[in-house]
Order: sequence, then C-alpha cells, then structure tokens
Amino acid sequence: MKHFIDTKDLTKEQIDDLLRLSEVVATNPREFESKLKGRVIATIFFEPSTRTRLSFESAIARLGASNISVENANESSSAGKKGESIEDTIKMLCGYADAIVMRHPDNDSARRAVAVSSVPFVNGGSGSFAHPSQSLLDAYTIWKHRGSLDNVKIAVCGDLKFGRTANSLIKLLSKYNNTQVWCLSNKGMEFTDEVFDFMKQNNIPYTMCKGFADIPADVDVIYQTRFQKERAGEISTKDFVDLTITNKVMERFGPKTIVLHPLPRVDEIATEFDSDPRAMYFQQAANGIPTRMAILVSLLCNDKVKSEK
Ligand code: NCD
Repeated sequence: MKHFIDTKDLTKEQIDDLLRLSEVVATNPREFESKLKGRVIATIFFEPSTRTRLSFESAIARLGASNISVENANESSSAGKKGESIEDTIKMLCGYADAIVMRHPDNDSARRAVAVSSVPFVNGGSGSFAHPSQSLLDAYTIWKHRGSLDNVKIAVCGDLKFGRTANSLIKLLSKYNNTQVWCLSNKGMEFTDEVFDFMKQNNIPYTMCKGFADIPADVDVIYQTRFQKERAGEISTKDFVDLTITNKVMERFGPKTIVLHPLPRVDEIATEFDSDPRAMYFQQAANGIPTRMAILVSLLCNDKVKSEK
C-alpha cells in the first residue's frame, strides 16, 4: 500500500491486515512508541476538522514521529492566500515531510495529490467523495463488536448525498460477504447515482426506507450522519421529516444493534441515548487512534507490518 486514498482501492486482505494491526496497536501501544521515530508527518486541512486532525496528530505523537501541521489551510496557507494549486502544495510538502495527511473540499483532491506525491499520502476526507480513514475506524468498531465483517446488515441514515462517510464505509464493506444496506434519508438527500451504481455492480442489496420502521429490528448497525450544511448550500430543510435517533426510536431494535456516527453530532441523535450500551459513537471516535496509527505504520514501515502481528 503506497497511499491511502479511497476504500474502493483497498483489497480485503489490506483491510484485514489494517484491522489486525489496529488491534495489535490498541493492545500493545508501548511497542509502537518509537516506530516512526525521526519521521516527520505533515497534516494539512483545508476544511474544519476536530477528530480526524487531532487523532492523526495524536497517532503521529504516539508513534514517536514529529508533526508539521496547517489547519484552516484555506486561510493560512499559500493555497488560500495566493491560489496555490494542490499539486504545488503537495510537491512542496514532499520536501518537508515523510508522509502527508490532507483534507480538502474537492472530490478529486486526493487523486490529484497522489499523482504528484513522492511520499505516502493519506486522504483525510475529500469533498463528499471519500473518507477512508473514517471508514477504517468505523469498520474496526463493527469488527470489534461482531467479530466479523461478513453478513453485516447496515442502515445508513441522514445526509447520504453530501456526506462522505456512509458511502466510503459501504465501499469498504463491499469487500466482505453478504453486506446488506438500508437507506434512510430525507427527499433529495439520497445517495448519488455513483453510490447506487456501485452497490448494483457489487451485488449489494439495498432497500430504500421511509422511516426507522422500515429498518429490520435485527440490523447490526445504524450509521447516523449529520446534514452537511457547508456542502449542501441553499437547500431548504423545512420539509425534512425528523430522523432523530431517540430512546423511543431505538425501542424497536435489539440489544445487538449498535448506533454509530462519525461525529460531530448536531441534533440527529438525542443525547438521552448516549447512556444506552448500543450508543457506540464515542468509542468509535476513540478507535481513530489505533486505526490511524495502523495506517501510518503500514504506509511508512511496509515490510514490517506482517511481523508485527
Ligand atoms: C465527518 C467528515 O468530516 O466527513 N467527520 C469526521 O471526520 N469525523 C462527518 C461530518 O463532518 O459530518
């Protein structure tokens, strides 16, 4: 694995290796303290981020590497000030860092970056297209809960059109057997044709739902997402039906149904549900550390990954 761009590009074997390595990292963190000692990793974020940036930076610190970082790169970097291209920004960073983690609002930003990057590149979120490191931590959370990523029944809810996390996760789960998907969103917020075509081509059965009652009670995962106001622009939400997850909504689901959310949450999961054992979103966010450590180790110590297990 040279770069980490899109879950579509990963093989099942690569994902399995990353999940196993994440587990090794989570159980023996001290063994990784100096793994990337002497390396410098750049994190450059052209869109707001709390979890992704901070967990990558925490992962970098926990691996003994140094971090150079630009947040609000739109304002504070040359790209923002003078319209520097993604290509020039990346070429320049390759001279400063041994790996680059970038978040950018353009869907094709990660592909453009890897076309010129001579160092491992990690997509920290590209427009509404992909968020592969989020998907890895989502998958790790599901895998830890169920012991397998085969036969996953997942309901994806909320803003499926502009959000990048649900479609990225389905593309990851498509590598495993018998993934089944239920889609619940407001009118106009459905997955794009690209995602429906992907599911058809990969024989992933999906069901369009009108409400939570259309989701089977034994679904493994309810993956709730936030309305992506910043990407949706002027779309009116006044006719939206309420798709908030509440204690009442969750009454019909069994004890094994977990609720995930990439966070940040606005109001699409009522805080009353946070104390329910099925509410896994904060644990999910914490899983960003071992999984992002695993991504960086895999990219920067390629030949050593297998002996780590
Ligand atoms: C998500 C993102 O940026 O796509 N957040 C994250 O990385 N945890 C989801 C979101 O912003 O709604």
